Amino acid sequence: MQGLGLNPLNRYFPFLEKPRKFRYWCKRYGELAERVVRNAQDCPPPPNSIMASLLSIKDPTTGKPLNLEQLKSEVALLLVAGFETTAHSIAPARLLEWGDLGRLKSLDAAINESMRLLPVTSSGSGREARDDITVEGRVIPKGAVVMLPTYTIHRSKKVWGPDADEYKPERWLGESGHESGAARRPGYQPFSLGPRDCVGQSLAVLELRSVLATLIGHFRFVLAEEMGSFKEAEQAARQHITLKPMVPTPPGQPLRPGLMMHCHPRL
Ligand code: HEM
Repeated sequence: MQGLGLNPLNRYFPFLEKPRKFRYWCKRYGELAERVVRNAQDCPPPPNSIMASLLSIKDPTTGKPLNLEQLKSEVALLLVAGFETTAHSIAPARLLEWGDLGRLKSLDAAINESMRLLPVTSSGSGREARDDITVEGRVIPKGAVVMLPTYTIHRSKKVWGPDADEYKPERWLGESGHESGAARRPGYQPFSLGPRDCVGQSLAVLELRSVLATLIGHFRFVLAEEMGSFKEAEQAARQHITLKPMVPTPPGQPLRPGLMMHCHPRL
């Protein structure tokens, strides 16, 4: 991890708060990843676990196992990619107010719709153009880095229709369903697309389904007054590596991370 983030300007302003914080958290993730690797090396992990697979990988040309730096970056990637993303996708899932939860189709529709409106990786993926290409009359020169802004694409009226900003899980009903874990539909890319899309998407969808089905089976959730309406709660979300829910505050006051809800046990 270079500690520079996606913004190339960070290179020139390393003293600013954002790049400094980014470097700090990269260092902390690096230390955590090193602890995980060293623990696994000292005390062998269960066979067939992700850690056991990482330790057993051999470079096909040299025949050597991954070195400490390579193992650390794999573990750090799994920590960043696999934990924050799923946790913050669970939070805004708004099926709490909608539908027959006994049916998995409704649950999937609600998950898809939540990840459409509030995709945790909202700024999308950066990709470098391999050659000069022309997209809708605009030339993208070879070597340029292009962002595919997921949030914007997920709310495009051209793709989703005039109600693109509305929470309507029913738009997913009648879909052919999941292939390799996540719904496939043009303009829907919460896990990115193409050869470098999310390797953990099937697991992530499984986690979302099981955690949400369990929670909703036991509790009824009602958005707390502090959050305002669903629309206000949605608008308060902010991007800090992942898109996080925030408690709306009066103008001029900093937002606080979190999603406040009342939780009523189902009897
Ligand atoms: C709701 C949960 C998740 C979301 C929204 C998500 C989203 C994404 C996205 C958008 C990318 C592509 C990044 C890019 O284009 O550069 C990605 C990559 C990746 N994700 Fe996930 N992810 C989730 C959960 C997970 C889980 C649970 C794991 C692992 C256990 C995981 C492991 C990875 C890895 C290793 C990559 C890098 C793949 C590569 O570079 O080839 N993700 N994820």
